[in-house]
Amino acid sequence: MTLIEMAFASEAYERCWLLRQAVLRTPLGLTLDIRERTAEVGHRHFALITESNDLAACISVVPMTEGHAKLRQMAVNENMQGAGLGRELITRVESLLARQGICHLHMHARDTAIGFYTRLGYQVEGDPFVEVTIPHVKMTKTLPTQLSG
Ligand SMILES: CC(C)(COP(=O)(O)OP(=O)(O)OC[C@H]1O[C@@H](n2cnc3c(N)ncnc32)[C@H](O)[C@@H]1OP(=O)(O)O)[C@@H](O)C(=O)NCCC(=O)NCCS
Repeated sequence: MTLIEMAFASEAYERCWLLRQAVLRTPLGLTLDIRERTAEVGHRHFALITESNDLAACISVVPMTEGHAKLRQMAVNENMQGAGLGRELITRVESLLARQGICHLHMHARDTAIGFYTRLGYQVEGDPFVEVTIPHVKMTKTLPTQLSG
């Protein structure tokens, strides 16, 4: 698997937009909001690409105050879920961010994905809330500063 960082509106970004629509919105009967897209100009976008150039998984990172970032829009291709790719994507992105001095991560996790993030060292913070019509919780993780790879 190759980890890539994509520019906003690049061909790879557009493929991720379609994957996110299929994995994160269609099952809820929703569509990605064009206003979300406008905000994404200033975000960072990562993907795992297979050797045959298929899109396996993607995630976006929102830069916050110094040393902090928010993870969002984590999606693994439906045909490839449960094969360790979600773990690989987050772990590799965490390493990259830690090397850049970004060690405090948080996200709004769907309650159905809490177990996944817990396995990766994230902890629930605060009470549940509703986003995109379903329950979420805030989860946080502080990366070790020596993290690399
Ligand atoms: C949730 C998701 C990102 C996980 O990625 P994945 O590639 O399927 O997960 P992995 O195979 O890397 O799983 C890593 C570990 O987490 C566990 N796991 C995976 N999904 C889980 C879930 N929903 N709940 C609890 N545990 C989960 C796996 O069993 C595995 O456990 P192990 O440590 O015993 O091996 C992916 O399934 C997905 O895109 N789901 C639909 C969209 C979604 O919910 N996105 C998250 C929005 S917050």
